[in-house]
Amino acid sequence: MKRPVAAVIGTGRGVPRNIMTNHDFAAIGIETSHEWIVERSGIHQRHIAKDGETTCSMAADAARKAMDEAGVHPGQLDAIVLSTATPDRLLPATAVDLQAALGASRAAAFDIGAACSGWLYAMTVAEGMITSGVSETILVVGSEKMSAIVDWKDRATCVLFGDGAGAVILQRSRSGKGILSAFMRSDGQLADLLYRPSGGATNQMSAQVLEERSHLVRMAGREVFKHAVRSMSEAADRALDTARLTGTDVDLLIPHQANVRIIEATAKHSNIPMEKVYVNVDRYGNTSSASIPIALDEAREKGLIHDGSTVLMVAFGAGFTWASMIIRF
Ligand code: UT7
Repeated sequence: MKRPVAAVIGTGRGVPRNIMTNHDFAAIGIETSHEWIVERSGIHQRHIAKDGETTCSMAADAARKAMDEAGVHPGQLDAIVLSTATPDRLLPATAVDLQAALGASRAAAFDIGAACSGWLYAMTVAEGMITSGVSETILVVGSEKMSAIVDWKDRATCVLFGDGAGAVILQRSRSGKGILSAFMRSDGQLADLLYRPSGGATNQMSAQVLEERSHLVRMAGREVFKHAVRSMSEAADRALDTARLTGTDVDLLIPHQANVRIIEATAKHSNIPMEKVYVNVDRYGNTSSASIPIALDEAREKGLIHDGSTVLMVAFGAGFTWASMIIRF
């Protein structure tokens, strides 16, 4: 009998209806231009949460769609693993709010924080739970309300991010289809290149923190860019090596959607033509750990992933963290 693998049996996304275009920054006093944003990042617009939309509500929206497609009801979930850099509250985990919202009464629920790589980290943890026999069916969600933590006065960062959630249902399978390989790596020496200096248990929230805006995201963009290209290329190599595949075996590359130039460089390194790369950063901006599961759901909806397709996913984010995964559908 084939060894058990973790297979994707449903996907979904939950995205705010409200869209902010590059032209809308003028109205909030940000000195930028559509041309600059498109040339440097490839972003045209992003979805921004409104009217009480939260990290949990977007996650629930994505999760319900994924469960619907999988034919799984909330009571069947053994676990909910939610990646987020924007939890609704600092305690408890947003995953337990999601559990309550879904009525997934049997599920163990917890958050994973690995910034933009968080969803691939969450998938890797969930895969381990499934293949070790701890769990059979797991909801893995990436949900981010980046609009709550970006500095809307800093043009170098506020134009880059957006909100949204993506989800998959992973289930134990002996079909031979599912997660073929995964890779994760971190480098905490570089944490201060992309971080929120204050607002946690050290440098707690205070009038001074609010005044300095140091509870909001700060990023050394050019430095992050260089590391992102290098690390995403390494991650792609490692997942391919472990699965004994090369770039030519990949039917679709779904990279983290931060910047179209980073995506192009990663694809080139792995010898994957841009026709085989899913790009939606133009419509969403950088939704951190939600970017890959949103893109995966869209790619499946568009018929870009078939029975037997080999999909490579690669991410990079604050920490730094980087990760990759290959799934056979
Ligand atoms: O999610 C994972 C982590 N994040 C990333 O992977 C993002 C990585 N970094 C990037 O994508 C790019 O570095 C950015 C898109 C953030 C910036 O592109 P860049 O080509 O690296 O530009 P830069 O930061 O070096 O800025 C170039 C110029 C600066 O002016 P000077 O100093 O050259 O006169 C900035 O002040 O562009 C200026 N600038 C802007 N101009 C118009 C910065 N932000 C803006 C803006 N509009 N919004």
